[in-house]
Amino acid sequence: MRLGAISDLHIDLHPCGSRIAEFLADLAEERGLDALLIAGDVAGYCGTTDRFMAELEERLEEKGGIPVWFCLGNHDVWNREEPGLTMDEAIRRMRSRRGFLQNDIVPLTGRTCLVAGIGWWDFSLADRTRFTDEDLLRYSFGGREWRSHGWTDTGGIDDRDLTKRWNDELLALVRSVPDKDVVLMTHMINHPAYKVPADHPNYAIFCYFNGYLGSEGLFRIAREPNVKAAISGHVHFRGRTEENGTVYTCPNLGGPAEFLYRVPEELLAPEWREKRAALPADAKPWEVNALLRPMDETPETLRFHVENALDIIEIE
Ligand SMILES: [Fe+2]
Ligand SMILES: [Fe+2]
Repeated sequence: MRLGAISDLHIDLHPCGSRIAEFLADLAEERGLDALLIAGDVAGYCGTTDRFMAELEERLEEKGGIPVWFCLGNHDVWNREEPGLTMDEAIRRMRSRRGFLQNDIVPLTGRTCLVAGIGWWDFSLADRTRFTDEDLLRYSFGGREWRSHGWTDTGGIDDRDLTKRWNDELLALVRSVPDKDVVLMTHMINHPAYKVPADHPNYAIFCYFNGYLGSEGLFRIAREPNVKAAISGHVHFRGRTEENGTVYTCPNLGGPAEFLYRVPEELLAPEWREKRAALPADAKPWEVNALLRPMDETPETLRFHVENALDIIEIE
């Protein structure tokens, strides 16, 4: 079975975001996918996410009925657009959408199950030699704020308690099928390799904000012996790694300016191609991004990013 995995579509951040469902459905057909998996952060409001998923489902139906499974991300449960909306209510509303998973398990094949949920953060991925729980409960550091905290109503539940509750649920699901292989999908990162690394130019800040990317507990779940693939998003890096027979992938589409360094020359307008060529060949991704950032997104560059982010996982 060929699974296509992608995360962090952020359709409302992309100037051409209304085309993403069309691009995904076309790619699902072109790549011969048997199912499409989306690891959260579709949009900054659950109503927008729901409308997008309805459109995507319809387009995949036209392609012969390719199923799509998805979990939410922290952006999807924000209440900026609907003051008073709680996270529980956002999740409850999504329950009527086919393919939605929040700490649920579904069979993909006779041998493999999908276990999926948002996951949450409990500060364990921050540099704990520098920051205490008290520091991380401030949700701000170095003049920057973790805005997601203020836009999410967890119903008064502490993020650390929520993480524990949800991790316990995910772990129980993974262990409920010891004789099956499991594909684990969470929005929060489930491998520490996807923390913002120490050589990143903004690590002086991210050594703190890494605390809101996921939890050590999710990594422990991903290392359960029957987990064969672990998909995550949230951090807006694209990466894939294999460890002890498990594939870990972070197939982020991200925002419009985050992966400009990957845009191939032929998709750059001549003026940008020239500027790009003036940079040294070994320029860092963030240097290329900074140079190209004023460039407008086009349907062609967005389609490239969707294809570039989409990761294919083969399972039995
Ligand atoms: Fe995101
Ligand atoms: Fe996120």
